[in-house]
Amino acid sequence: MNQWYIAAYGEEIGDGLLGRIICGEPLVFYRTGEGEVVALADRCVHRRYPLSRSHLKDDQIICGYHGFTYDKTGVCVAAPAQKRIPRTARVPAWTVHEQDSLVWVWIGDQELADTALIPRAPWLDSPDYTVVRGMEPLKARYSLLVDNLLDLSHETYLHGGYIGTPEVAETPITTEVDEDADVVYVSRHMDDAECPPFYSKSTGIEGRITRWQDVEYHAPCLYLLHSRIAPTGVLPPEDGPDDQAFHVEVTYGITPSTEHETLDFWMVARDFALDDETVTEFLATSNHTVVMQDVVALDLLEEVVESEKENYQELSINIDTGGLAARRILAKLVARGERKTAGAAPVATP
Ligand code: FES
Ligand SMILES: [Fe+2]
Repeated sequence: MNQWYIAAYGEEIGDGLLGRIICGEPLVFYRTGEGEVVALADRCVHRRYPLSRSHLKDDQIICGYHGFTYDKTGVCVAAPAQKRIPRTARVPAWTVHEQDSLVWVWIGDQELADTALIPRAPWLDSPDYTVVRGMEPLKARYSLLVDNLLDLSHETYLHGGYIGTPEVAETPITTEVDEDADVVYVSRHMDDAECPPFYSKSTGIEGRITRWQDVEYHAPCLYLLHSRIAPTGVLPPEDGPDDQAFHVEVTYGITPSTEHETLDFWMVARDFALDDETVTEFLATSNHTVVMQDVVALDLLEEVVESEKENYQELSINIDTGGLAARRILAKLVARGERKTAGAAPVATP
């Protein structure tokens, strides 16, 4: 719980109310007139009406049921038919931080929220990249999406004809773990690979390619896949920019919503054909198709996992090294969080 999670894209939070469940906490988000993002508990202190289904006026939420009115710190500043407002009339407020076009929320002990801990994805908010993105809610637990993204050999089978080619599954990976920073690195460098339509159509490369996939998983929420595509034999120069290659920064926010649901924020930033609308549209559509292939598979897996007997033993092989490292780090974070937050509830900021 003592972690930063991506709650929304900055552009999703405007002059309306956005309700989202993050780590089991129903939250309501809005943006004040000054542009600050606010996150409050999405439950009116009076009769629990969802504040996300209420009204926003002058940076305050007026409950849609009986009109309790909350300011941006969660304090109730007006109640119907009486002047005196009970001292306990407030809803918890959460710490949020907007960075790299993402809205992060700190769930857990609010005093521990340190924005310096938020991992960066600067290409999402850079004029040197063009980004397509979306969010799909999964009816699957968070760990299934972590497994999925840490083992890209599934591209060959689940995404064949889109981003998968035989070489992805055939090429061994290397895995490294930074235990202090809680980051897992998984690399797969294909020196002479078929170019999937996904890249041939967007880059214009004809023929075979050098295809590198360098994954960084910043547990628990941010997943980065640095993808480098170049004609076979074109390697990064010793000095100077790697401008003979095409770079795609595939970025995922993996946010647990409930025990069995996950918010799958997917973003694809490219450093080529920046103003080419046809490429943008092609990448938006084909990435969405690929994401939906994963959604269908993971929702199916959730049903399988949910219905199986306890102690079912999976079998792991070399391709699972990254996924297993991620599981180990997540288990460590959970254990550490349980020690720190035993019994603590979020507190309203005064
Ligand atoms: S439930 Fe919100 S004012 Fe009654
Ligand atoms: Fe996938």
